[in-house]
Amino acid sequence: MPSIRACIFDLDGVIVDTAKYHFIAWRRLANELGFDFNEEDNEKLKGVSRVDSLNLILKWGGVQLTDVEKTEWAAKKNEWYLEYVKQMPASEILEGVLPFLEDLQANNIKIVLGSASKNATTILKQIGIIDMFDAIIDGTKTTKGKPDPQVFQLGAKAVNVSPNECIVFEDAEKGVQAANAGGFHSIGVGSPEVLSHADYVISGFENLTPADIFQKIATESV
Ligand code: BG6
Ligand code: MG
Repeated sequence: MPSIRACIFDLDGVIVDTAKYHFIAWRRLANELGFDFNEEDNEKLKGVSRVDSLNLILKWGGVQLTDVEKTEWAAKKNEWYLEYVKQMPASEILEGVLPFLEDLQANNIKIVLGSASKNATTILKQIGIIDMFDAIIDGTKTTKGKPDPQVFQLGAKAVNVSPNECIVFEDAEKGVQAANAGGFHSIGVGSPEVLSHADYVISGFENLTPADIFQKIATESV
């Protein structure tokens, strides 16, 4: 198998657990529109863009809005979300992520962000790790959402590496599908039931080194 030259990380749910803040903000929006929204529904929004998430939530609540109203509510939701995110300390970086990134740097492996979020640079600055990334592809740079592989293809291109030399780390089923569709190695971060299409699933980065992952990938592709 070709050697690994880059690792592409999703942001929400892989580097930080921002799903809880998205949930609080979406729930407030639902409540203000007169319906409720639970954590199970929130799961279905992982990896889904802001506007597509809003459309799903409105469908679940049976609420119809004009395009202008949708833009206004999406902006409100984002303001509420940012109130939380802008107070997020670096200690919210998920366990093991920082040493994993440091190990990649020490081995000259490119570090790339591949996220649907339009808040990605704000979040990476807030938690103090933006300078560790060789390229950042986020929701401001893509035209197609996951499961389309565009976000990862742009990421690989930005560091001049081909998909089969890249590993994608994803917590969303749609993200794993996107990685697979683009010919990337895929590592699911979370539950094996949800991420069954990934080449390999990890529960998180705690006590895990890039060498462990490269070994798993090599075994999977035999
Ligand atoms: C993804 C999250 O990373 O980004 C989704 O998993 C979120 O829940 C999407 O809707 C867009 O995020 P943002 O920050 O642009 O609203
Ligand atoms: Mg995610």
